Amino acid sequence: MDDIKQIIDRALAEIKNADLAVLEDIKTRYLGKNGVLTQILKSLLQYSIEDKRIIGLETNGAKDIIVSEIEKRKKSLKKVLLDEKMHKEKLDYSPSFYFPFSKGSFHPVVQTIKNISSVFKLLGFSIVEGPEIETDWYNFEALNIPESHPSRDAQDTFYIEGMKNLLRTHTSPVQIHVMEKQNPPVKVIVPGRVYRNEASDASHSSTFHQIEGFEVDENISFVDLKAVLINFIHQFFGSELGVRFRPSHFQFTEPSAEVDIQCFFCNCGGCRICKNSGWIEVLGCGMVHPDVLKTVNYDSEKYTGYAFGMGVERITMLKYGIDDIRLLYENDLRFLKQF
Ligand code: DAH
Repeated sequence: MDDIKQIIDRALAEIKNADLAVLEDIKTRYLGKNGVLTQILKSLLQYSIEDKRIIGLETNGAKDIIVSEIEKRKKSLKKVLLDEKMHKEKLDYSPSFYFPFSKGSFHPVVQTIKNISSVFKLLGFSIVEGPEIETDWYNFEALNIPESHPSRDAQDTFYIEGMKNLLRTHTSPVQIHVMEKQNPPVKVIVPGRVYRNEASDASHSSTFHQIEGFEVDENISFVDLKAVLINFIHQFFGSELGVRFRPSHFQFTEPSAEVDIQCFFCNCGGCRICKNSGWIEVLGCGMVHPDVLKTVNYDSEKYTGYAFGMGVERITMLKYGIDDIRLLYENDLRFLKQF
């Protein structure tokens, strides 16, 4: 019995530091045909039945211990080898290895939409989109723009399919879609692409973007409109800027205003960008016309609202000092990479 215990101790000591080849050797020496333990089993004949049983049990127990220790050691050696192999043969899957190109970025117009949207989100607005192909009713009629109104002129509007449908000329028709679907309170902004049938030059393009915004609820007044827009302008352009509301006219708002900011290019001294006035026009706005509210079956005695709309390209150009709108569509990488 003492012999068997010693055999186990010896085998375990050898297994501890063995590599794969040595493990095979250990297996042969202890468990093989002529192995130490096999020899013991072969010698059992000379013992009494009781001794045979005890020695046999111990020897087989020793075999089990040694086999399981050898397997354990093998497993851990294989893991170490695999880890080493993985480390040595590691492939670099990182983008810089496979794509030696510079990282892409958002187009400046998209960046402006994102920046403006995030300011309005903080002010409690949600973002909604609407269709680019509209009917005459949504684009004009429902917004209180009568048939005779000059903005309906086929020269400004891209009509399709026999003048029934058109490419929206502004994002304002989405006001109607939203209010048709939802009862007050509503408070949304609508970024989107719009189309006008006009020749392109440094400040005009037949396709451009607008952001519309409006809120309708009980007790909404011009004060709310001013607060929201001044807050937006200060967050977007700078907190020190002077803002002025100038009376204007839009069919779907009454009263209507245009909003100017102090020219930050010349500090109001007068320059080419502000046409020597010291002020730059940034958006149109007003209180939603009661007729528009009636069109969507809102109770215009109970609810009031304000609306505003701005050109994204214009704002982008002002913000970054870009003097030609066409730069925003040419997609020249030398230009885009600056953003
Ligand atoms: N839809 C107008 C345009 O394209 C912009 C605008 C002006 C939108 C006043 C408004 C608003 O919501 O209240 O010129």
